[in-house]
Amino acid sequence: MPNAYISGTGGYVPPRIVTNDDLRTQYGMDTTHEWIVQRTGIEQRHFAEEGICSADMGVHAAEKAIANAGLEKTDIDMIIFATLSPRHAFPGDGVYLQEKLGLCAAGRFIPALDIRNQCSGFVYGLATASSMVQSGQVKHVLLVGGETHSAALDLSTRGRTVSSLFGDGAGAVVVSPTEEDRGIRGWYLGADGRYADVLAQRVWNMSKRPYVPTREEDGVGEVAPEMLWANMDGKLVFKNAVERMIQCYMQACFDQKIDQSDIDLFLFHQANLRINQMVAQMLNIPEEKTIHNIQRYGNTTAATIPLLMAEAVETGRLKPGMKVACVAFGSGFTWGSAIIDW
Ligand code: ACO
Repeated sequence: MPNAYISGTGGYVPPRIVTNDDLRTQYGMDTTHEWIVQRTGIEQRHFAEEGICSADMGVHAAEKAIANAGLEKTDIDMIIFATLSPRHAFPGDGVYLQEKLGLCAAGRFIPALDIRNQCSGFVYGLATASSMVQSGQVKHVLLVGGETHSAALDLSTRGRTVSSLFGDGAGAVVVSPTEEDRGIRGWYLGADGRYADVLAQRVWNMSKRPYVPTREEDGVGEVAPEMLWANMDGKLVFKNAVERMIQCYMQACFDQKIDQSDIDLFLFHQANLRINQMVAQMLNIPEEKTIHNIQRYGNTTAATIPLLMAEAVETGRLKPGMKVACVAFGSGFTWGSAIIDW
């Protein structure tokens, strides 16, 4: 059985920067730069222009990852797309990405799988991609995490608790086989459905007739704000994120029979700088072993870890021979960790 390793990385954020002050001056949100920075570490985020969706940003990230892997697009044998903000309810964004990459025109009708695990979508995808590669059924898997949050944020004061946190972007990796003694060593995934409604966007409810209740009797009209926008119990998310990230990281170390000090670099999901600082503090992780970009991008959900990974490779912070831990937590609740020998 071959090892599965990350052969290429790439990231993309749309050009428009929205600062914390812009949320106030451009969108009329009653907030301050200090409030957001103090609680989350976020200083700015990028918002896509109208007409751009997660698959469009995913194409840019994917093209870089494929080029960095030294491959052609047609070498890709499978697409996995992790997102909570696909263009439509269905189909998922994987098939849109396939078409936008020109694979259909090239006759590459490869499988395209969508992953709906929100902030832990990338780690769930990494576990799936590495298992597929190790099975020998496919060689090169393109794994993309991409989000267009800006289209579905309540940027008024009413939505400020949620909407000040999120930004748009995409990150991609190619997972490939190798006979070398390196790669994705192991992963650990978990979920706790008791908290399914704690962080959710319930635009529709298929158990109801009509499945999108409206304020008008004839079934058309305004969707109620509590259905249109994401709901979050921030304090409960914070507490569970810290606990589960620590637990799933320790479980991965235990499974791999490695010690915490063996890890050279931690790539935490970028949900909130304070969550990650607390995790690092409780695990006694020295600051120089962590990197963050949430200050510049906000929370890009499934895109945070591959974006961080791509930047770390680009800046030379992540080099062959290093042992890396990826740790994520998000809506569901779902969580996951992966240990990689780069
Ligand atoms: N600017 C100014 N005031 C705000 C803002 C804002 N952007 N957002 C909320 N407030 C106000 C609230 O309206 C509230 O006002 P009130 O007291 O008049 O009602 C006050 O600040 C306190 O609100 P809380 O929600 O209690 O604030 P809290 O200290 O819990 O901070 C936060 C909120 C930052 C969201 C925090 O709970 C948190 O970080 N939770 C983790 C959530 C998270 O990271 N989610 C990411 C998605 S999940 C994931 O990726 C893991």
